[in-house]
Amino acid sequence: MCGITGIVSQNRTDIGQILVECSSKLTYRGYDSVGIATVVNGMVDLRKDVGKIEDVNEELGLSKMKGDRGIAQLRWATYGAPTKTNAQPHFGCSRDFYGAHNGNLHNYYEYRRELMETGHHIRSENDGELCVHAVDKYYEQTDDMFEAVRCSTRDLQGAFAYAVGRADEKKIYAVKMGSSLVAGIAEHETIVSSDLPSILPLTNNVVYLQDGEMVELTPDSVRVFRVEDGKELHREAEITSVDSSAAEKGGYPHFMLKEINEQPQVAEDVLGVLEGPKSDKWIQMIENSNRQYLVACGSSYNAGIVGSYYFNRLAGVPIIPAIGGQFEPLYGKTLDEDSLCILVSQSGETKDIINVLNRVKNDDLGKTLGVLNVIGSTLMFNADAYIPMVCGYEVSVPATKTYFSQTIIFAYLAAKLGVRNGHLDPREGEQFISALKKNLPRLTKDTMNKSGILAKELARTLIDVPDLYCLGYGLTDGVAREGALKIKEICYNHCEGMYSSEFKHGPLSIVTDEYPVFFVTTTEDSWMIINHINEVTCRGGRAIIVGEKEDKLLPYVDNDGDYLAVPKSPVLLNPLIDVIPLQLLSYYLSVDKGINPDLPRNLSKTLTVD
Ligand code: M6R
Repeated sequence: MCGITGIVSQNRTDIGQILVECSSKLTYRGYDSVGIATVVNGMVDLRKDVGKIEDVNEELGLSKMKGDRGIAQLRWATYGAPTKTNAQPHFGCSRDFYGAHNGNLHNYYEYRRELMETGHHIRSENDGELCVHAVDKYYEQTDDMFEAVRCSTRDLQGAFAYAVGRADEKKIYAVKMGSSLVAGIAEHETIVSSDLPSILPLTNNVVYLQDGEMVELTPDSVRVFRVEDGKELHREAEITSVDSSAAEKGGYPHFMLKEINEQPQVAEDVLGVLEGPKSDKWIQMIENSNRQYLVACGSSYNAGIVGSYYFNRLAGVPIIPAIGGQFEPLYGKTLDEDSLCILVSQSGETKDIINVLNRVKNDDLGKTLGVLNVIGSTLMFNADAYIPMVCGYEVSVPATKTYFSQTIIFAYLAAKLGVRNGHLDPREGEQFISALKKNLPRLTKDTMNKSGILAKELARTLIDVPDLYCLGYGLTDGVAREGALKIKEICYNHCEGMYSSEFKHGPLSIVTDEYPVFFVTTTEDSWMIINHINEVTCRGGRAIIVGEKEDKLLPYVDNDGDYLAVPKSPVLLNPLIDVIPLQLLSYYLSVDKGINPDLPRNLSKTLTVD
């Protein structure tokens, strides 16, 4: 949520252009409003408005803004409606101070009142403005920008990061207190940002920051300090191997389609990692714990559900899937020093997950194993160990390739664990692992080819359907939920994903003539799915099947178009590839409805708030 970018340059006089280029790479974090503040001849030029960066740029000429330093912010609204006044950056009381934040201030109402009572002129209802006023307040007292920024953090509670500058200093300061922040060093210019993609157009020389740290940027240096006592920390920059082309569409109309098409490569890459030397340690962490939870949100949670079925089926180990925000109230009291929390998060920054991570670490309640995509994320730095999803950047707000990678990771680990603990016959285990390695990348590609056209045609028949269900059974439970989430998220339909045998316990009453219900199945469960299909079709409902083509299922669809068939594959691979037709269907339905699937309304890819 929200993306900030600050740049200080020695030689540029037209900083707006590079600020637009870099900060637009953070669009996936927020697109309610955008703003840029630059310093020209000792004066702050601040332009902002509601809308996506390309529209606001056209309206306000952001890329033509002059100056050698500045701060840009892309907003996902939390405190204060998405209006021009609430857009960031903000001024302090005086127009000498400019700054923007990412995250939430929990003491917003109290602190706003306190500042106003002491004469501060607060213009917006946005909590980011208070960060700038806090710096302004302490500057009054110290006459020193470094000290003012350091002390400002005393007043602010919550999880946030902010960047701030003063018109008369050729410096930008930034603070990390619970939200992500990285810095970069290029030739005679430096940058600080909420996330790596906006740094990569300038440099791959990166300085990772930790919570409780602040940075001072000049054109030639990035100095890191501890907020608490102002002590300088000599942090080396690291060369990142992440490729900036990952954040380009590469000829596809949308990132989502590009990322779906990257899945064969993802399968190959993640299996390469799983075959590497660290797998043993990850499996040992599961073996050495007496109770395991798989904690995640959204698509990562759906992947966790698929994972739990694999762990039960292949290893006889009950790994409980838990929604991040629900973990503490539902399972918090069951943790002890022998527990293991497998924390699954594409971004590695999701607040609901970081809360669980912090609770386990602070109270010494067992081990944490991160499953994450973003290298350098909070989860990566703080979990006891982590498994990388190796998907490269996932830019589109809807998760696709990272969900896919997560399910492969769980399937693989479950099979290895099953062989080790004797639950799975070694020959069967080896067959499954070798099917994953040898067949999955090709099968993934074949599934895309086979179901792409079918999904596109089916999408056309669903344009006017306001509401539908997506049901799965056994290993396809999580797949159905993921399909439903995709349809909800980017097509704006009501679509509920649920367990197919539960449908008759109430939801069935929604079915009338032609009411569409998706059934996602593996070949071993189709006998059971037939019962559930019958319950719908005998009431006039329309069954749409996702799975391998089976003669016994054919009579249950009205026409061929209602069967999203995937290629023939070993049964335990079915749940991995069954998601692909649903991803493609949601993509085409979204585009047919005139929606940009990469940036669905109201959402942000990285949710660093509670
Ligand atoms: O970065 P995370 O995996 O922790 O994100 C979790 C969810 O916010 C995310 O999966 C969300 O549900 C996706 N936009 C769904 O496509």
